[in-house]
Amino acid sequence: MKRVLLVDDDRRTRRVLQILLERLSLESQAFESAEDALEYLRGEKVELVLTDLKMPRVDGIEFMRRLRELDEEVPIVVLTAYGTVETAVEAMKLGAVDYLAKPFDVDALEILIRRSLELSRYRTENRYLREQVDRPAAFENIVGDSSPMRDVFELISKVAPTRSAVLITGETGTGKELVARAIHKLSPRSEKLFVPLNCTAIPRDLLESELFGHVRGAFSGAHADREGKFQAADGGTLFLDEIGDMEVALQAKLLRVIQEGVVEPVGSNRRILVDVRIVSSTHRDLESETREGGFREDLFYRLNVFRIELPPLRDRREDVPGLAVTFLREFGQEFGKGDLALGERAIALLKGYGWRGNVRELRNLMERAAVLADGDEIPESLVRSLLPGTAEPEPDGNLDLSLAVADVERRTILRALAATNDNKAEAATVLGIGERTLWSKLKKYGL
Ligand SMILES: Nc1ncnc2c1ncn2[C@@H]1O[C@H](COP(=O)(O)OP(=O)(O)OP(=O)(O)O)[C@@H](O)[C@H]1O
Ligand SMILES: [Mg+2]
Repeated sequence: MKRVLLVDDDRRTRRVLQILLERLSLESQAFESAEDALEYLRGEKVELVLTDLKMPRVDGIEFMRRLRELDEEVPIVVLTAYGTVETAVEAMKLGAVDYLAKPFDVDALEILIRRSLELSRYRTENRYLREQVDRPAAFENIVGDSSPMRDVFELISKVAPTRSAVLITGETGTGKELVARAIHKLSPRSEKLFVPLNCTAIPRDLLESELFGHVRGAFSGAHADREGKFQAADGGTLFLDEIGDMEVALQAKLLRVIQEGVVEPVGSNRRILVDVRIVSSTHRDLESETREGGFREDLFYRLNVFRIELPPLRDRREDVPGLAVTFLREFGQEFGKGDLALGERAIALLKGYGWRGNVRELRNLMERAAVLADGDEIPESLVRSLLPGTAEPEPDGNLDLSLAVADVERRTILRALAATNDNKAEAATVLGIGERTLWSKLKKYGL
């Protein structure tokens, strides 16, 4: 029977929780004070801890701090009537997996308890997931603990509170939109709208009216007045996705609106004051396009006040496991397959792959894996069959045997390095070659 420890200074809450835990066939150990609970935990292991935050003498936060010295892993769920965002964030930093506001909903609590208990089942995953906890709530859905992603998080926190324009660059699928949303969520504008506009998806002549709105009769088909995205985003954030695709004539108009903070709907000479923060994104190299005249330099400087560059996934392979596990859980739940797990070998395989489509490609792959999954754990063979180029050499018409062999060799070495965290000696062992041979091959392939 799994054992759950609960701490709450209120006798009635303890009673209710104990009844609930019993109903879930769980053994409960209830304590009135954090001191008593810690005393117990010094000698015993439990599978889950439920704690109140506001308690006399030692409060919930201090309790968690001391608990973490005894047990780094046990999932903690915080129950509190004083669940302000700050204390919740602080609790999350100390490794709380979740929190619930009192008076709590019994069903919600039950789900939460079940979910938290599952956490200790998958120890590998637990480790990866916990790395995600140490950050503000708006980062919650951005997974990544690599040093380039830490830098990104820091930049987001710095720029979010300001009104500065932000340009987010990076290859396709690196998470540009996710970052744009996080900036909005962490900004003082978060109560107002985040309005995304994809400059590629909209036919050129419609883009202007999308941006600034139009009045009735402005052009054929304009049957009524229509508000543009600028007005919709008033007080909030306008996200200009793929800004590099906007045609130059429209760029001039956009520049004027940004400079003056005033929009003129198409077909009218009304001037509407707007207060909009601009976040834009592009996968193109706008600097060089400015030099070649494809993008207005003055607009570029307006948009590029603050730059966030998202690194490709292949440059932050240590993020692959956390992302894979997160997506797998998400799709596992969605498809009613419960919590799906990935074994270490499958993870190593994923880490060694090229990810030209970056996080999006990984996400799609995990979705397919979840669809095809039979049991609780995705077998390595399934992952292998889903990864292009790892099952068989690519049929690219190349019949030069030495080239094909070299290609397989290079990829295998990359995978071995990824699987051993770049430890050359271990990688050589895994590959079944000597370390010196490995070094010479690394040199040969420029790795
Ligand atoms: N760090 C991350 N953590 C979790 N999910 C991520 C992360 N980065 C990207 N994703 C997910 O990957 C997908 C692609 O991300 P997003 O749409 O933000 O990429 P993008 O850079 O805007 O790509 P594109 O240039 O193709 O528009 C989304 O489903 C997003 O939720
Ligand atoms: Mg995008």
